[in-house]
Amino acid sequence: MKIAFIGKGGSGKTTMAALFAHHLNRTQQDAPILTIDADINSHLAKALGLDSGPLPPPLSSSESADRLKKHIWNNNPRISKAAEIKKTTPPTAESGFFWLVDENNLLFQDFCVREGQLRLARVGTYESEGIGRSCYHNSLAILENVLSHSISDGGFLVVDMVAGTDAFASSMHAQFDVLVFAAEPTAKSLAVFNDYARLAESAGIADRLYAIGNKALDSDDRHFLASNIPQDKLLGVLGHSRHLRSVERDETEFDFDQMETETKEAMATVLATLTNNVSSYNERLEQLHRLHHFYVAQGYVRDRFGDLTNQIDESFDFDEYIRRNRDSYGPNA
Ligand SMILES: Nc1ncnc2c1ncn2[C@@H]1O[C@H](COP(=O)(O)OP(=O)(O)OP(=O)(O)O)[C@@H](O)[C@H]1O
Ligand SMILES: [Mg+2]
Repeated sequence: MKIAFIGKGGSGKTTMAALFAHHLNRTQQDAPILTIDADINSHLAKALGLDSGPLPPPLSSSESADRLKKHIWNNNPRISKAAEIKKTTPPTAESGFFWLVDENNLLFQDFCVREGQLRLARVGTYESEGIGRSCYHNSLAILENVLSHSISDGGFLVVDMVAGTDAFASSMHAQFDVLVFAAEPTAKSLAVFNDYARLAESAGIADRLYAIGNKALDSDDRHFLASNIPQDKLLGVLGHSRHLRSVERDETEFDFDQMETETKEAMATVLATLTNNVSSYNERLEQLHRLHHFYVAQGYVRDRFGDLTNQIDESFDFDEYIRRNRDSYGPNA
C-alpha cells in the first residue's frame, strides 16, 4: 500500500507522515514500512527518531540516481541507454523492481536508515552543480521512477511530499493508493485543498484524495474545517499538540503514547481508509502509460530521444506479474 501526505508549506505533512509511520510500526508487526522524505529540506528523519546516525545517501544524487536507474532498467529491451529513462518510463516484465518484502532490495540495502521494520530514504537536496540551473523537479524524477517500480505488497510505503500542488506537474499523484492532505484551518490552506481536489478530479484520482485537519485551536477551527471539507473526505482533526510542542522545543523525546487520543484515532482511520482503497497495479500503470505518452510527446524530448512511446508494453499485466513472483521475494524465499 502506498500513501502520500501532501499540503501547503508548514501544514503538518512531515508530522502526519511520521505519526502514521509510528502507528504502522505499532500495529503492523512484521510488515516492512518504507518512509520517503521527498522534501528538499529533510525533516522526516528527526520526526521518526531515525536521525541519531548518518543519514542515508540521497536518492537524487547523480551517483544514487545512476545506480537506481540501472537497477530499474535491468534487461528491459525497450530501453537502449540510461538517458532514455524518463520520469514516466513505465515498468515492464523485464524491469528491475523494489519489493518491500525483500529485505535485500537495493533501496533497503543502500539507501535507507532502519530501526526494526521502519526505514527511511530521502530524495535529498540540490547537488552543488545543479544550483542555478536545475530545479527540484529534476531531483523528484528519480522518486517517480522508484515509486513506479516499487512493489509494496505486504508492506507500506509512506511519502512525505513536497509542499503545494507540485505532484500534479509529474506522475507523482498517480503513484499512490491514498493521498492525505494536511489541512490547517485557514482560507489559504483550504484554497490549496480545493486546487488539489480539482486537479485530482481531472486526473481521475478524486477517490484517492482525503484530508486531515491540523493545528485546530478551538471549536471554531474545527467547525471551519468541517464545513469546508466534505465529511467523507475528512479523516480527522488534530488539535495543537502539547507533546509535539515540547518535542519541538527539545524538552522531551517523541513518544507516540503521549499523543492525544484524537491523533491516534485519526491515524487508525487513515490506515482503515488506506486498506479499503487499494488500487490495482494495472490501474495505476494505465495512468502512468497515459502520462508517459503525454510527457514524451513534448518537443524537447522527441527531438533529443525520438519516439519513447515504445517503452510502453501494453501487454504487461502488472498484477499478474506480482502474483507470479510474490513467493520468490517473500520473507520465506
Ligand atoms: N498538531 C500539531 N500540534 C503542534 N505542533 C504541530 C502540529 N502539527 C505540526 N506541528 C508543528 O508545526 C511545524 C510544521 O509542521 P511540519 O514540519 O509537519 O509541516 P510540513 O507541512 O512538513 O512543513 P514543510 O512544508 O516545511 O515541510 C513543526 O514545527 C511541527 O512540529
Ligand atoms: Mg515537511
